Amino acid sequence: MKKKILIICASVFGLGLSAQTTNEATIDKIIAGMSIEEKAGQMTNMTLSTIAYEKDGSVFIDMAKLKESVQTYHVGSYQNVLNHAYSIDEWHRLLDTIQSVTLRLEKHKVPSLYCIDAVHGTNYTKGSTLFPHNLAMAATRNPLLATLGGRVTAAETRATGIRYNFSPVLDAGRQPLWPRFAETFGEDVYLVKTMGLATIKGYQGTDLKSTASVAACMKHFLGYSVPASGRDRAPAYISDIQLREYFLPPFKEAVLAGTKTVMVNSAEVNGIPVHSNHYLLTDVLRTELGFKGVVITDWEDVKKLVERHRTAENYKEAVYQSVTAGIDLCIVPMDYDFTKNLIALVKEGRISEDRLNLSVKRILMMKMELGLFDNPYVEQSAKSQLAKPEYRENTLEAAREAITLLKNEKNILPLAKNKKVLVLGPTSNSKTSLNGCWSYTWQGQDASYFDAKDLTLLDAIKGKVSGEVKYLTVKEYEANPTIAGQYDYIIAAIGEDAYAETPGNIKDLELPTDQKELVKSLAKSGKPVIMVLLEGRPRIVRDIETLCPGIIMGYWPGPQGGIAIADVLFGDVNPSGKLPFTYPRYSGDILTYDHKLLDEAVEVQSPYSYGYEFNPQWQFGHGLSYTTFVYENLKFSTDTLKGNAVLKVSLTVKNTGTRAGKEAVELYTSDLVASITPCVKRLRKFTKINLEAGASKEVVFELSAADLAFVNKDLKWVTESGEFQVMVGALKKSFFYK
Ligand code: BGC
Repeated sequence: MKKKILIICASVFGLGLSAQTTNEATIDKIIAGMSIEEKAGQMTNMTLSTIAYEKDGSVFIDMAKLKESVQTYHVGSYQNVLNHAYSIDEWHRLLDTIQSVTLRLEKHKVPSLYCIDAVHGTNYTKGSTLFPHNLAMAATRNPLLATLGGRVTAAETRATGIRYNFSPVLDAGRQPLWPRFAETFGEDVYLVKTMGLATIKGYQGTDLKSTASVAACMKHFLGYSVPASGRDRAPAYISDIQLREYFLPPFKEAVLAGTKTVMVNSAEVNGIPVHSNHYLLTDVLRTELGFKGVVITDWEDVKKLVERHRTAENYKEAVYQSVTAGIDLCIVPMDYDFTKNLIALVKEGRISEDRLNLSVKRILMMKMELGLFDNPYVEQSAKSQLAKPEYRENTLEAAREAITLLKNEKNILPLAKNKKVLVLGPTSNSKTSLNGCWSYTWQGQDASYFDAKDLTLLDAIKGKVSGEVKYLTVKEYEANPTIAGQYDYIIAAIGEDAYAETPGNIKDLELPTDQKELVKSLAKSGKPVIMVLLEGRPRIVRDIETLCPGIIMGYWPGPQGGIAIADVLFGDVNPSGKLPFTYPRYSGDILTYDHKLLDEAVEVQSPYSYGYEFNPQWQFGHGLSYTTFVYENLKFSTDTLKGNAVLKVSLTVKNTGTRAGKEAVELYTSDLVASITPCVKRLRKFTKINLEAGASKEVVFELSAADLAFVNKDLKWVTESGEFQVMVGALKKSFFYK
């Protein structure tokens, strides 16, 4: 029986048991013949700029530098671009050059591995397909779309000649100031886990050798996404209970699902930089979770143990700390100091060669599983996988399901197509505000790389409306504000332009004043103002929300997002997105939906008379439709769930409106009494259904004790006996667990 399980596990990795053993034997043999220098080189990852240069917009290998890198330092992997995306032919030329030089100079014929960030599509290849960012993908509540996006990304990345993708982010987005919020699947751990795993399934497929698969990288382990200050790469203070309950589970599931690699959090948790944290990188990740793959550092983060964290006196100590903590592969990426220091540490006997062997074996096994030993060069047969026409449909479909209707007073939406429409606002005629970060450039701010065929929101609206569509820049409008009164509807698209990582730090979640003033001024026209939010994180709209009868959240929906939003504005698509985070009303009142009751306590009448208040701008899970869904008949298979049994929860969802619609049905539970203060509620299951007008469907969820568990004071997952409440929509019902 045990053997059977092993065989099943091994074939999930794309290998039969005997193939695995043969591969390991081959790799062990190679490692046995390698020098310390060659091993240190395999653990070194360099950025492309160290071996290439750009001239007249094209990229070229600097042969002398590449030769030095391979011959002198034995570098086994490279990554990134210099400034922007390259054409597929440029990539092929680059990658095949790196590979042929490597195979010529590398004594053991170990192929080179190239790595890239393809985080919402193959974002560094010209002509590739970009998808909505993860936050928007989470709003779809449709894991099938996440897998589809992952498949397309894998196919296009492999077509480019690259087999390793630094994606997806599995950090939970629980700090909206954090400039990488849009890269997360939102604030809820179950949602992150579900959408993250679906994406990884898309990337890795069932066989990494397939020309349509890439190795995935779950990142950033662990606790990156909740910096106390909200800034990127800043310290987080997370209790052990919280770390295990809200941040670890997606990584745990991803390990079980066979994710090949993990990237380490650049910052520090509870005063310890994660790159030197043996407890997290070895005790938790390796011993507890059983991770067998490659642990890669983030960008220059070993050096930062000296320069930023100041836990190491010098670079050599930093290398010592990170390698003994558990890293395998270091994104150095600009010089060879990591490599030199690592060699010195082994020669001095402070790090054993066996320790190096462990890391090198993981790296070489990955290269083998990716088929690099069989066919190290660009796979020409995969080239046609770039930009297949159906991919545009796929990304449009994802954007359509992501768009979230936040407000629809008196059913102002959908708008009639034969009216006069005024369109304005900083994100209305912008492709960068649709695509966000990592879009052909890291910061995503250079629109010249986008496909000329892609439409801005303004272009998409023009394509819908038979009446007049007038576009004004903010300046033009300010010169003649009375013009607004001449239109039937005003569409004000506001929010954020693209940004990535630290350059995206902000000091305040409030929308910039000029944007709020614009909406206030437009509202004075007396005409209905429809607000469209294109943004990577929630910016406070409290002051202007009441002025707009219709509000649409677009997130960073990708290149087809303009069309998707116009489809929703004018009723060609019935919106079905649900917020993957709690939209705050005040900058100083940030609470996730799964907070504690104590978080809600307010003194209503002094002295000592308390009430409860939780009144964000919009709740997690909020999202309206053009039809109405009625939930009824909530039933349990039993009133008492025992041991490891399963409780079936069923209900009927009816489309009582006049048009078809999709609905994400979400099941929450509340643990009424527990030894650790329970959250007010937790998302436990969700499913998305499609219902014709008048149709109804029975939805069945299964709950087991594991779904109700929490981390107790001894850091153990437990389900305590007692009463639990199930909530689906407005329906509530209790059961007991024994
Ligand atoms: C980011 C990572 C990314 C890496 C490599 C870093 O700045 O934090 O998420 O994968 O760069 O480009």
